Amino acid sequence: MCRQRLFTTLLVCLTGLSFIFSEPVNHSIDDTLGDSATGQRPIYLPVTGVWKDNTCTSCSLRPPTPSAFKGTYTSATYYPYLKNISITFEFTGTAIYIFFVLANAPPPGVGATTAVNFTLDGSIMGTFNHSPNRSAPAFQFNESALVFSQTGLENISHQMVISTAGNEQIFVDFDYALYTCAFSLTYYVGILN
Ligand SMILES: *[C@@H]1O[C@H](CO)[C@@H](O)[C@H](O)[C@H]1NC(C)=O
Ligand SMILES: *[C@@H]1O[C@H](CO)[C@@H](O)[C@H](O)[C@H]1NC(C)=O
Ligand SMILES: *[C@@H]1O[C@H](CO)[C@@H](O)[C@H](O)[C@H]1NC(C)=O
Ligand SMILES: *[C@@H]1O[C@H](CO)[C@@H](O)[C@H](O)[C@H]1NC(C)=O
Ligand SMILES: *[C@@H]1O[C@H](CO)[C@@H](O)[C@H](O)[C@H]1NC(C)=O
Ligand SMILES: *[C@@H]1O[C@H](CO)[C@@H](O)[C@H](O)[C@H]1NC(C)=O
Repeated sequence: MCRQRLFTTLLVCLTGLSFIFSEPVNHSIDDTLGDSATGQRPIYLPVTGVWKDNTCTSCSLRPPTPSAFKGTYTSATYYPYLKNISITFEFTGTAIYIFFVLANAPPPGVGATTAVNFTLDGSIMGTFNHSPNRSAPAFQFNESALVFSQTGLENISHQMVISTAGNEQIFVDFDYALYTCAFSLTYYVGILN
């Protein structure tokens, strides 16, 4: 859903001309709280046993919660026996940006490589890979963990599927996505005294 923010920018009384337009705005899709406009939450597969939220105390990798968007994230460790894990959400807008939490300082023996594919409206549109980087902070958030972006989309409803398959152990930690609601412009021409 694309809820618009309206601005009356100019009201020229002499001519009775008024412009009302809505600027493009970003809405967020939080891993836990869902879409800031509709409340719709992402779907995590498999449904049980694999995906954990930031309250997980038994997880080997525990990024600091206050550094995450809205203080939440949802993570999983993929093992080959799982075959495929995924996150699915929908949005209506013209651009999409996806932010993960990336790990750089795993305890010995803990896998922290991140690898995912991005399938937009049924087509693979991108892939992302990150190996722990000892020169970087222990965890990366926000702009330094932007894993996918796509602009110039048609202003319709889109489906994003983020998935991991294959033969490696992989760490996936979804924090949030932003999507851009399209610009629209309306002119009102009225007669004022
Ligand atoms: C939406 O967020 C992205 C990523 O942070 C940013 O590059 C873009 O300028 C934002 N768009 C709007 C309309 O605020
Ligand atoms: C990431 O952004 C959120 C919300 O904008 C902020 O609360 C958090 O502190 C940021 N994290 C880092 C590590 O900058
Ligand atoms: C993984 O699951 C997603 C969601 O069901 C699907 O779109 C994707 O094609 C699957 N990938 C593989 C390699 O099976
Ligand atoms: C590792 O992190 C450092 C510091 O942030 C950065 O300069 C470097 O490019 C990173 N290396 C890779 C391979 O991403
Ligand atoms: C991404 O998709 C390609 C092609 O289907 C596949 O070979 C690769 O294993 C996938 N990567 C992940 C991390 O699932
Ligand atoms: C984009 O779609 C939304 C939701 O359908 C609509 O409110 C908005 O006016 C549209 N913007 C443009 C430029 O067509």
